[in-house]
Amino acid sequence: MRKRVVAGNWKMNTNIEEGLLLVNEINNLVKDLSEQTRVIIAPPFTHLATISSLLKSEKSRISLAAQNCADHESGAYTGEVSPNTLSDIGCKYVIIGHSERREYYNETNEMLFKKIELVLKAGMSPIYCIGERLQEREQSRHFDVVSSQIKEVLYNLNEADIERVIIAYEPVWAIGTGKTASSDQAEEMHEFIRGVVADKFPSCADNISILYGGSCKPSNAQELFARKNVDGGLIGGASLSAVDFAAIIKSF
Ligand code: 13P
Repeated sequence: MRKRVVAGNWKMNTNIEEGLLLVNEINNLVKDLSEQTRVIIAPPFTHLATISSLLKSEKSRISLAAQNCADHESGAYTGEVSPNTLSDIGCKYVIIGHSERREYYNETNEMLFKKIELVLKAGMSPIYCIGERLQEREQSRHFDVVSSQIKEVLYNLNEADIERVIIAYEPVWAIGTGKTASSDQAEEMHEFIRGVVADKFPSCADNISILYGGSCKPSNAQELFARKNVDGGLIGGASLSAVDFAAIIKSF
């Protein structure tokens, strides 16, 4: 069975005090919701250990994700964060290959595959982000771009590992722009993504959760989540408001 997932990517927002306040608010709003939807938050690295302790002490249903990790386990990589240490402090997921990391930090598919392997080895699940830029869609290259992002990275995994991956389709032109993909555009691409996964992993593709990300908010989440191949969302801006984030979670 495919899992429903709503994940909040806080990006480089909130200080620790604001972060703790936000987690407490979200926790209060989601604690009585049905367990059917997996709720994940991805605060900045600096907050993870503190928030992890808080979630444990509250026996919260919220799981913790990191927004990135190193492509090595340990060693002389100044400023990097090992996937193993993220797992140690209670992270269950790591966002890998967000378009902001591909774009601003030159992360390549080769590097992203290494990160995914290490995340899986550390016992966590990667939330692997893919999606085309505006120009690529305008040139009708969006299917090719997304297909390569899957083939060059996920095709290198084995069947047992692919089952643990969550895919997030985030068209770059919809991120932080207020311009959401229509539910038809999202469904068309999600169905395509599942097909590309099925070409290599026919028995697993149907079990993989594919999230939509890009200006997802309470006003459009219900329509998006109602589509057959949309299994939830990766939420940026709207995840910084506990009320909006909880409303999105309730949109299923
Ligand atoms: P917005 O929801 O702010 O458009 O961001 C989406 C995103 O990048 C989530 O990873």
